[in-house]
Amino acid sequence: MATGESSFKRVAVIGLGLIGGSLAKAVRMNGLAEMVVGTDKREDELSLGVELGVVDEAVGSIADAVTGSDLVVLAVPVRATRAVLEAIKPHLSADAVLTDVGSTKTSFVQDVQAVFGTLSPRVIPGHPIAGSEKSGIRAANPELFANHKVILTPADDVDAAGLARLKALWEGCGATVLTMSVAYHDEVLAATSHLPHLIAFSLVDTLAGEDENLDIFRYAAGGFRDFTRIAASDPVMWHDIFLSNRDAVLRVIDHFTHDLDQLRTAIADQDSATLLRVFSRAKAAREHFSKMLSGQAYVTNNSQKQVTFRLQPGGSMTGDIRVPGDKSISHRSIMLGALADGLTEVKGFLEGEDSLATLQAFRDMGVTIEGPDDGFVRIHGVGLNGLQAPRGPLYLGNSGTAMRLFAGLLAAQPFDSELTGDSSLSKRPMGRVADPLRAMGAVINTADGGRPPMKIRGGQQLSGIHYEMPVASAQVKSCLLLAGLYAEGVTSVTEPAPTRDHTERMLAGFGYHVHRDNATASVSGGGTLTATAIDVPADISSAAFFLVAGSIAPGSELTLRHVGMNPTRVGVINILRLMGADIEVRDEREIGGEPVADLTVRSAQLKGIDIPEDQVPLAIDEFPVLFIAAVCAQGKTVLRGAEELRVKESDRIQVMADGLAALGVKTTVTSDGIVIEGGQTIGGGKLDSHGDHRIAMSFAVASLRAAGDIEVTDCANVATSFPGFVDLARQTGIRIHAEGGE
Ligand code: S3P
Repeated sequence: MATGESSFKRVAVIGLGLIGGSLAKAVRMNGLAEMVVGTDKREDELSLGVELGVVDEAVGSIADAVTGSDLVVLAVPVRATRAVLEAIKPHLSADAVLTDVGSTKTSFVQDVQAVFGTLSPRVIPGHPIAGSEKSGIRAANPELFANHKVILTPADDVDAAGLARLKALWEGCGATVLTMSVAYHDEVLAATSHLPHLIAFSLVDTLAGEDENLDIFRYAAGGFRDFTRIAASDPVMWHDIFLSNRDAVLRVIDHFTHDLDQLRTAIADQDSATLLRVFSRAKAAREHFSKMLSGQAYVTNNSQKQVTFRLQPGGSMTGDIRVPGDKSISHRSIMLGALADGLTEVKGFLEGEDSLATLQAFRDMGVTIEGPDDGFVRIHGVGLNGLQAPRGPLYLGNSGTAMRLFAGLLAAQPFDSELTGDSSLSKRPMGRVADPLRAMGAVINTADGGRPPMKIRGGQQLSGIHYEMPVASAQVKSCLLLAGLYAEGVTSVTEPAPTRDHTERMLAGFGYHVHRDNATASVSGGGTLTATAIDVPADISSAAFFLVAGSIAPGSELTLRHVGMNPTRVGVINILRLMGADIEVRDEREIGGEPVADLTVRSAQLKGIDIPEDQVPLAIDEFPVLFIAAVCAQGKTVLRGAEELRVKESDRIQVMADGLAALGVKTTVTSDGIVIEGGQTIGGGKLDSHGDHRIAMSFAVASLRAAGDIEVTDCANVATSFPGFVDLARQTGIRIHAEGGE
């Protein structure tokens, strides 16, 4: 047996039902203890214990089971716990660990305290989140806990060694162990397990009481069967659970009946807006957690997910593709659609995590949004004053745009709100929006250094200001213009250099007048937005990877369709052309207030240039991949005036320089830019993208001209702006493979 210092010698399982029997068998089969003894007051169960291989020894009394055991597991019905603890007490050795598998933890702790007088540090309550409708020792299944969660609820003074051994035992059975407080466990379980069981029991019982019940059940389709599966669970066990977790269960029942009552009223009143809102919010939440549970990312904290890009060198780029929708426009389409009067339909919406975070946040504020379904979204606008207070903080993932734009429009709402994000977003400066918003009368708290979370106090009347932006930032400009919709008087923003003007264009598309006077954009508060249709062009920032790829890879010819060509975004094309790139722009047209075109890029020998500073804000997101172009060019490329790159999703100057260095490419980093000598060999190697989507994709492009294999770690965030990147890159010629899923 594979037992050692850290494992238990003799495990006593009291109660050989489904859970106790399965645990005993799993411990035996995985060699997690020298000896497993079991006892059960049901003689027939007990006699099967050895026969079925569940225990090494079946003993007739609790005293015999507990004596000499260093782990005692209570697996009896919750309501029997106190009596069993009384029987255990005289025989429990001082250094033994005592745990249980019950579904409620407050009651277990209370029982232990009642019997033992205190809660010893070696009492560690437990709850495996696994089960089946079958019961009894015959159903004992050593695989029952594999890939399931086990919650342990240790006290603050828990015996650390005991906890580690118990954790190892459950992990040895294939489970994932979580720890939380007793009270939190009971709240969570009341909502996620106990209430659903109650509803299932109640629903089946209600229908069974109807006269035509036989017919009803005969016609009951899959939905009824799926929904009520858990009503076949053990009635005695559930009776015990509800009585033991009374307070937490009552709270969640009250909450649920209140919400159910609202739905009843909505049906009675033919209030289809409420029904659609609740159903679509629920559908989105359901999809959200199904994906979370299956390990896929979707507005979740990607930093917990590890994706590595493995790249083989060489290749050329060919094909005819359309990259996903523009991220900036997608965010704004949801925001303005939600605040408009009427129904806004969006085509080509980017289903990336950043814009999905914005979409989810509006759902959390009561806006009904259908989709996204293959880029199609229908938003039931609530008007500028129709948002409802969210129930909790709005989590915006990796998205700086979402946080800064939300800050502007939430500063003027009647309710309080809190904006949070992932670890990268939590490091980014928010003072640049909080300061001018405060000057308008907003009340905003940030963490040290003006970082998120942003806590915004509602109920403030904002007044228009004139603001001269110290940095060229479309996010700051957009934030203030959105706040300006609610402010008294005129809000005007002057930019030191042109930045993307999607907010201004889209406001105009929604019928809201934006005044433009050279570098100053202004709005007057108090108007309304009228719903419209939006066709989101393909994102030039995503196309940029393919423009560089097609330029540097020999033998390439690649067409990119429907690319957004807004003059405030085309810096990457201007810069690449100055470097000698062969990019043909065809069929220029305007769709919904934004210019688009089809682009064809062919391989070209690039040359190094001094990047004109006026192009920097127009290509602000494209520099990581432009650095790759510079490495492949002949001669020196110099970038200046780009200190903003240091406060993007990562410090893009330093992280790119470090990544290039890992591939043997030397660069000179300056405070506001970089100097790159072209013509250096890109070697193979391993580098870290620091969770920055654009860094990860840039090094995928670099592989086309590399001399060896490249491995890029921490790439999960590519899904924030470019879902499907790996497939599209592979399809067009990059030898890429993502490990850990894209
Ligand atoms: C964006 C503006 C830019 C850009 C970001 C998106 C926007 O940021 O980097 O990816 O949608 O307004 P700054 O305006 O802060 O430069």
